[in-house]
Amino acid sequence: MEHLSHLQNLFDRLPLTDALRETAALFARRVTFSSSLGQEDQVLTDIIARNALPISIFTIDTGRLFGEAYETLERTTARYGIGVDVYFPQANAVQDLVREKGVNLFYESVANRQSCCQVRKVEPLNRALAGNAVWITGLRADQNDHRKNVPVVEWLTDREMYKINPLLHWSYADVADHLLQYRVPYNPLHDKGFVSIGCAPCTRAVSAGEDPRAGRWWWEQSQKECGLHLSKS
Ligand code: ADX
Ligand code: SF4
Repeated sequence: MEHLSHLQNLFDRLPLTDALRETAALFARRVTFSSSLGQEDQVLTDIIARNALPISIFTIDTGRLFGEAYETLERTTARYGIGVDVYFPQANAVQDLVREKGVNLFYESVANRQSCCQVRKVEPLNRALAGNAVWITGLRADQNDHRKNVPVVEWLTDREMYKINPLLHWSYADVADHLLQYRVPYNPLHDKGFVSIGCAPCTRAVSAGEDPRAGRWWWEQSQKECGLHLSKS
């Protein structure tokens, strides 16, 4: 974690693009960005691609995404001429889980839902991050209570890597403005009341004034995190 304060300084002081460029230079080819193809992530993809930053981009295809997410992926790679690495869950693990608990197990209990997220998202994430020194995400502080306490730059002890959330203090309006200004392709569901978009069976639209995360795992009273951003320990 020797670079922690240096990285914190970069993201405190420099414009975002420059901070990302410096980070990429410091950790040559070992900086990766996880994109869910949601609107925050499209901002980061736009910045990385337009500035040709040497940061790899990956997305996890859980197998349960909306058709619109695949459309967004295709439009994004075509628009910027970039590659996005698509990670899939382990076929055997999905098969065992579905055989044991059913294909829509997540509605039954929080534990079932977490097992599904573990198999379909977290395990592929672990593989995608392996070998990298820095993980960039599109988290924003006002997305939920847990994210309010997250720093822009942190050292993940369990993963032994830095995690950087460059948009942490961006508002929803900042994100929307950026998408408009740079005509960034985005998921058309965002225009239909979907704010935070995850897997299709676990995401619904929200109405005006409703908590933006209310549309994720809406039947649960849980913390509404899939485990990607919770410490492994
Ligand atoms: S989640 O934990 O509730 O699913 P959310 O949709 O808010 O996450 O996205 C927060 C960040 O998690 C995104 O900016 C992205 O970095 C990462 N992320 C979420 N889903 C995926 C995915 N399917 N593939 C890659 N990264 C993802
Ligand atoms: Fe499974 Fe739903 Fe989690 Fe997607 S969001 S991995 S479908 S429980």
